[in-house]
Amino acid sequence: MIVTTRHEAPTEVQKQAKALAHNLGVQFVERRKMSIARLHEIDERVLVVTDGGIKAYSKGSGEPFFFHPGMAMLRIKRLMAGDTDVMVQACGLQAGDAFLDCTLGLGSDSIVASFVVGQGGRVVGLESECALSVVVGDGLKRYESPLSEAVEAMRRIEVKPIHHLTFLRQCENNSFDIVYFDPMFFQAIESSESIAPLRPFANYEMVAAEAVEEAKRVACRRVVMKNHRESPDFARLGFTRIRKIERSFTYGIIEVGGEVR
Ligand SMILES: C[S@@+](CC[C@H](N)C(=O)[O-])C[C@H]1O[C@@H](n2cnc3c(N)ncnc32)[C@H](O)[C@@H]1O
Repeated sequence: MIVTTRHEAPTEVQKQAKALAHNLGVQFVERRKMSIARLHEIDERVLVVTDGGIKAYSKGSGEPFFFHPGMAMLRIKRLMAGDTDVMVQACGLQAGDAFLDCTLGLGSDSIVASFVVGQGGRVVGLESECALSVVVGDGLKRYESPLSEAVEAMRRIEVKPIHHLTFLRQCENNSFDIVYFDPMFFQAIESSESIAPLRPFANYEMVAAEAVEEAKRVACRRVVMKNHRESPDFARLGFTRIRKIERSFTYGIIEVGGEVR
């Protein structure tokens, strides 16, 4: 991966890009007049710092990946209007909860969870892929919207660039109320437009049985997984599927019933 800027970037953007390259331990490349195709001759993955955020370009895929909250804004508006949200229900999320999102992706589920748990709660989002954690982490800090509740929810999310198994192994027993997984497996077969530009950068590993065992130790109430309704992973990993199906996916739950946090 390399880091560059938009064409004719002001000094401030250049400084940000150099600092980002330094933090990531990757090469900073002066943009000059280079096209994305030319930059891809240097590296297959290019992060472009612009005044409005960071964009990630993967060789061979036309559209860049950049942060947007996806369906999170609409889901928050619905919750504010008194509607329910299937993920929130499946997780049994409440104000004040600590929610560990093991598969951050675009961050949409984390944003909704952060809105529900509120200022007294905590949301930690784990993303194993560096380009994704950088773009989404930056977007969550910068994104502006008139819906201040959603913006505050975004700002409170703690993004950690780490494989979830590594993180879970380091967690104390019962340190989160809910541990949540939304792996790519189902997304690869679902025609989800909002997630399409994320695909070239994503980790497609299946959730490991060891990760679920660790999650059961770390969660004090529930471990929840979103997946295709026909996914064999619910049975393989010991999840009980909820009845409600949204389009082709649903949620599986493991009630942990551990000590209260
Ligand atoms: C389907 S997306 C999650 C979408 C997310 N729930 C949302 O609302 O935007 C799955 C994400 O999890 C990441 N991922 C997959 N395996 C992971 C692992 N072992 N540790 C951390 N992140 C992982 C992928 O790179 C991808 O970004």
